[in-house]
Amino acid sequence: MSSHQFTAKNVLTRWIRGIIWATTLLAMTVQAQEAGQSLMAKGRQLFSPLPPDMATEEFPIAPARVALGRKLFFDPRLSLDGTVSCATCHRPALYGTDALAKSIGIEHRMNARNAPTVLNAALQFKAHWIGDRANVEEQAMKSLVGHASFGNPDFAAVVLKINALSGYATDFKQAFPNDPEPVKAENWGKAIGAYERMLVTPSPFDSYLKGDVKALAFQAQQGLKTFIDIGCVSCHNGVAVGGSMFQKFGIFGDYWKETSSQLIDEGHFNETKVPADKYIFKVPSLRNVAMTPPYFHDGSVTTLPQAVRIMGKVQLGKELTDQEVNDLMAFLNSLTGELPRDFATEPVLAPQSFSATSP
Ligand code: HEC
Ligand code: HEC
Repeated sequence: MSSHQFTAKNVLTRWIRGIIWATTLLAMTVQAQEAGQSLMAKGRQLFSPLPPDMATEEFPIAPARVALGRKLFFDPRLSLDGTVSCATCHRPALYGTDALAKSIGIEHRMNARNAPTVLNAALQFKAHWIGDRANVEEQAMKSLVGHASFGNPDFAAVVLKINALSGYATDFKQAFPNDPEPVKAENWGKAIGAYERMLVTPSPFDSYLKGDVKALAFQAQQGLKTFIDIGCVSCHNGVAVGGSMFQKFGIFGDYWKETSSQLIDEGHFNETKVPADKYIFKVPSLRNVAMTPPYFHDGSVTTLPQAVRIMGKVQLGKELTDQEVNDLMAFLNSLTGELPRDFATEPVLAPQSFSATSP
C-alpha cells in the first residue's frame, strides 16, 4: 500500500515538474520571441533596408547614363598618363576599395587618406572623410583634376581626350540628349554618378529589417543589440549605418594615441578652418565594412576587431569585452552584401582610334 502511494505521489510530482518545466520553457521561448521582435522593431526605427537604387530627383538614373558611367569608371585613358581609373583605387575584387592605407594615383602620388568603398556611397549626406564633396557627382568630376588621382591639368584637357576616344562622343550624346554640349566634365560626373547610384549591396541585415528574423544568426542579433545598447547607433544609423553626420573622432581621448597614426589629420578643420571643426570627420557608412580593411581615414588600423575596440574607447569611453567585440563583429559581418553584377565585371571599351581626330 505504502509503496503504491509512493509511486502515485512520485508520478504526480513528476507530472507537476513536467508542467512547470514546459511552462517555463514556453515562457522563455515567448520571451525570447518577444525580445527578438522588439529588437527587430527597434532595428527598424534606427535603420532601413537598402533601396533598389540611389537615384534622386536631382540625380536621376537612365540606362544610357549608367552604361556610359560604367565605361568611364573603368577607363584609365582619361588620366594624365593613362594609368589610373576609378577602378584602380575602387577595385571590384576588393569591394570597391584598394586595401591600401592610403591610395596611390598617377606617378605613384600618394593620397592624403584611405579610399572608402564606392558601394552604397551615394547614400551618404556628403562624400569624402571630411565631407568636402557634396555628392558622388561632384566627387567624380573633381577626381579628374585631383593631383593624386587622375592628375589632369584642367577640364578642357579631359574634354579633348574624351572626344579623341572612339565612341564616347556618341555615348555622351545618348546619355545627355537635351544637352547641346554633352561632352563636358560636369556630365562625366553625372554619368559616373548615375552608375554609382546603382551600386547597392543588399545584405542579410536588409533581409532582417524586411522581416526575416532568421536572416541574422543569434550572435549577429546579439551584436545588433549591443550596437544599439552601448550607443554605436547614435552615430552609425540610418540606411547606410552611418554617413549621415559629422562627429569628432576622439571624444574620450586623442584618436592618434589609439590608432598610432603617424600624421595627425585635423579632419573637417582642413576645409573650414573653424577651430571647432578640428578632428571632425564624416561618420562613415559601415555597410560592407568587414570587406574593406584597413580602417579609419588614414588606414592606420588593419583589423576590424581592433577598429571596433578603438571606437568603444574613444567614441564611447568604454573598454569593450571580448564577448561584446565578438557579437559586434557578427553584426558587422551581416552588413556584407552581394556585389552588383555590373560592378563585378568590367565593360569592354572601344579600342583607341586616332584616325578621326589625330593629325
Ligand atoms: C588614386 C586613387 C583614387 C582614384 C583614381 C579615385 N579615387 Fe575615389 N577616393 C580615393 C580616396 C583616397 C578617397 C577618400 C578621399 C578623402 O576623403 O579625402 C576617395 C573617395 C571617393 C568617394 C567618397 C566615398 C565616401 O564614402 O565618402 C567616392 C564616391 C569615390 N572616391 C569615387 C571615385 C570615382 C567615381 C573615381 C573616378 C572618377 C575615383 N573615386 C577615383 C581614391 C581614389
Ligand atoms: C560619437 C560618434 C561615434 C560613435 C558613438 C561610434 N562611431 Fe564609429 N566612427 C565614427 C567616426 C567619426 C568614424 C570615422 C573615424 C575616422 O576619421 O577614421 C568612425 C569609424 C568607424 C569605423 C571604421 C570604418 C572604416 O571604414 O574605416 C568602424 C568599424 C566603426 N566606426 C564602428 C563603430 C562601432 C562598432 C561603434 C560602437 C562601439 C562606433 N563605431 C561608435 C563615429 C562614431
